[in-house]
Amino acid sequence: MAKIQFHHFDGSTDILEVPAGTSLMRAAVSNGVDGIVGECGGQAMCATCHVLVHDEYLALLPPISEDEDEMLDCTATERDPNRSRLGCQIEAGGLLDKIAVDLPESQV
Ligand code: FES
Repeated sequence: MAKIQFHHFDGSTDILEVPAGTSLMRAAVSNGVDGIVGECGGQAMCATCHVLVHDEYLALLPPISEDEDEMLDCTATERDPNRSRLGCQIEAGGLLDKIAVDLPESQV
């Protein structure tokens, strides 16, 4: 199991325990966490799963693919140069047995 903290724009937090291998987007959508839409179902084609990863986890993330990089230029809330990722492209588990992300003010 892996622990994910979603920090909402209003200051509230949702904490989930999910099976290893679950993407942040899938975890949020499956558990009714507001602030992540996941419109394309995880294909890196919509940017409605934008998250801002807390600094201490950045070194543990998989590299950004070209597709993800392009979609991050299309987020509703402006991309952060270091912390922005697509939640559907990050799986909790393994080295990322815990992770914390901020959710942007808007996804659409
Ligand atoms: Fe569409 Fe992540 S769910 S880009």
